[in-house]
Amino acid sequence: MLIVGNQKNYMTTKDVRDYLKEMTGLYNVVICPSSIYVPYYLKKGIHVGVQNVVSSDETITGEVTAKQAKSMGIEFTIIGHSERRERYNEDITSAVNDAINNNLNVILCIGEDIDDYNSKATNAKLKKQIGELVNIVSLDNVIIAYEPVWAIGTGKTPTNEEIENNIDYIKSLVKQLYGKEVRVLYGGSVNRENVKTLKDIPNVDGFLVGKASTNIYEFKRIIEVVND
Ligand code: PGA
Repeated sequence: MLIVGNQKNYMTTKDVRDYLKEMTGLYNVVICPSSIYVPYYLKKGIHVGVQNVVSSDETITGEVTAKQAKSMGIEFTIIGHSERRERYNEDITSAVNDAINNNLNVILCIGEDIDDYNSKATNAKLKKQIGELVNIVSLDNVIIAYEPVWAIGTGKTPTNEEIENNIDYIKSLVKQLYGKEVRVLYGGSVNRENVKTLKDIPNVDGFLVGKASTNIYEFKRIIEVVND
């Protein structure tokens, strides 16, 4: 199982310093810190990701390209996080293609919002988002993170059965449309308590952990539980 920490914009330099002091023995783990802290994490010899990249074809103040990330020794990038999808009209296809062409592993976030969920349109939303992958050069280095928008940062999670069904739907659709087996992580309010049951979902390949990954003790506990 793969565990990815998405530390968003939560931490200050002091938080990072304290965190890194306790950060030992993290295997099968990728941490995606704020870009400004990436060198500190790289020095620790762990797998590091960025939280987003834009295509190298564009010049955008404040952004990072896949080429820049790769040149730093970064191995992963998140793309299409709902917090970005909601605010920016991003071109997911060109960002993913550019990341793939620069040999980054892509963690592509998809998931339904609360209106989709309430109107039983989850599959329709997932189908639309998976359909957007039609012009991706290769899905070989793409991992999907299934993150229901309503579960992010809310303390709410779907039932294990709902997650299992949705992951099954994602995997079958990707296979049907693109002929590829894809790994799928679950993300949305994963913590040290609920991970004890979430890890029993038979088709989940790991977790994308937000807030709980910013507390090293909690994050280590999550890793322990998942690897147990
Ligand atoms: P959360 O965030 O674990 O804090 O809900 C997950 C994410 O946004 O990737």
